[in-house]
Amino acid sequence: MSKPRILVTRRWPASVEAVLAERFDVTLNTDDVALDAAQLREALSTYDAVLPTVSDRFPASLFEGGAIQTKILGNFGVGFNHIDIAAAKEKGVVVTNTPGVLTDCTADIAMLLLLSVARRGGEGEREVRAGGWTGWRPTHLVGTKVTGKTVGIIGFGRIGRAFAQRCHFGFGMDVVFYNRSAIDPMEASRYGAMQLQTVEEVLEVSDFVSLHCPGGTENKHLMNAERLSRMKPEAFLINTARGDVVDEAALIAALERGTIRGAGLDVYEAEPHVPERLRALDNVVLLPHLGSATEETRSAMGMKVVDNITAFFDGREPPDRVV
Ligand code: DGY
Repeated sequence: MSKPRILVTRRWPASVEAVLAERFDVTLNTDDVALDAAQLREALSTYDAVLPTVSDRFPASLFEGGAIQTKILGNFGVGFNHIDIAAAKEKGVVVTNTPGVLTDCTADIAMLLLLSVARRGGEGEREVRAGGWTGWRPTHLVGTKVTGKTVGIIGFGRIGRAFAQRCHFGFGMDVVFYNRSAIDPMEASRYGAMQLQTVEEVLEVSDFVSLHCPGGTENKHLMNAERLSRMKPEAFLINTARGDVVDEAALIAALERGTIRGAGLDVYEAEPHVPERLRALDNVVLLPHLGSATEETRSAMGMKVVDNITAFFDGREPPDRVV
């Protein structure tokens, strides 16, 4: 029997590409150039499986017009807000993701951003590199103490919990959180955390607010101008979730006006575009979507995709089926 034809849309860790090449009739993207909408549409007409990443967009329009050969989208990433799930389902295309294996590394990046922005690490680094450091002095780049402060977490899934654990047990912080569904207080207490009833309650008491909810329609602009104004003026916003969870224009306005003290961002509304006004601000730390970017995690993500599509083509249920 011939092997399923699969397309990998970007470069993946070499060890994972090697396994894919053994098991499937695979087309790799050796140039690592992102495919445009027309190329992705063509892929849906040609390949049995397409393995996209979180930066490939699959709106409903991509599933329309012409026959679809693809039976499964094996997404390299836990987030799937770049795929119109309803449209995929309607066309009978299975979608899988890669949960679990990026929990720790994403929580680590959130902590990196929190520490960097509170302790002005980005500003200090830029100053040293520019040759502008004139020596130690009591008033130089004075930041905000982290230990013992209150952190508010929006979304208490795997990554939210891992972040809570770091904040509470690593930095002695009080942890409060908002989550759509109720979390057993015993479970929350394992992370030193307490659930509050509304996003607003969390915002009002927190020195740091960290977003860990999914992107997509239901959470679009969850942090809007009104909610940003509920944060303490000395508080910081951390976003390692999805860019569209924050109204970026409202955030820039809040940062420029000093309505909040700063922000640490790993994700943006129109990646890889980062607005000039955001880049001009000193009270933000900006990373290029690095949450899962470790050798261990990226290989584990790739192997999850391999497991998902192997199960699918063997006639078994893919372990991480979204739809
Ligand atoms: C994901 O997996 O959704 C991250 O944003 C990228 O690792």
